[in-house]
Amino acid sequence: MTAQLLQGQRALVTGGNSGIGEAIVQALADAGAAVVVNFLSGEEDAKRIAAGIEANGGRAVPVQADVSKPDDCKRLFDAADKQLGGIDIVVANAGIQRDAAFTEMSLEQWREVIDVNLTGQFLCAQNAVRRFRKQGLDQHRSAALGKVIFTSSVHQVIPWAGHANYAAAKGGLKLLMESMAQELASEKIRVNAIAPGAIKTDINRDAWESKGAREDLLQLIPYGRVGEPEDVANVAVWLASDQSDYVVGTTVFVDGGMRLYPAFREGG
Ligand code: BGC
Repeated sequence: MTAQLLQGQRALVTGGNSGIGEAIVQALADAGAAVVVNFLSGEEDAKRIAAGIEANGGRAVPVQADVSKPDDCKRLFDAADKQLGGIDIVVANAGIQRDAAFTEMSLEQWREVIDVNLTGQFLCAQNAVRRFRKQGLDQHRSAALGKVIFTSSVHQVIPWAGHANYAAAKGGLKLLMESMAQELASEKIRVNAIAPGAIKTDINRDAWESKGAREDLLQLIPYGRVGEPEDVANVAVWLASDQSDYVVGTTVFVDGGMRLYPAFREGG
């Protein structure tokens, strides 16, 4: 039997109780990693997911924390240390939308999204890097000292009317990721991002559930289907594994071609 891709590695996924985060948790566990399943609310789901993994002979621990709060973040990583003995893979995935037309957007809506989608990612990544350094390199586990994977969005490059807070956070995340990657690569810390397009989860249910909405959405997706959380999760496993050991500071778009200006199929 060949060894599993992430055998012996310890992972933490923020927002791991639903949507893309849940699929990433499952996929990492299926690849042999022990996983901390972070959640903000939705404890029942996090417990169910962890119990399912443990019933299959894996290891998973649900931990509540608000990633936008420094103390919560630290507690989350302490829990990973205590329960899993350390951390090798951090998927900074938690994200929210608070949509509004630009002039209607409240400061609270702006701040909430920046706090979770950008500051929360920064705090998690900072905790991760500090822990990686403390642990030191163990080449039996992985060729890298540690891996950080951000869940970004196609909106790190595609402007999005009615979602200025979200697009600003994701655009910021792109350069946070690249600056970190440049700064930390010499320590064998790999930092990368995944940029999902339209993936079938609760966050965008309005955009895919009804036939009419789905038809409109498909106009934006050259590949002709809405994405599944597993499309993203498979890439997360690869980015977390030594198979991508030379991949540093890259964004992998998982979007069915959404960022390719589909309107230009007929226009221009
Ligand atoms: C957003 C979704 C949206 C997708 C494509 C994602 O980052 O969270 O609501 O459907 O981008 O526009």
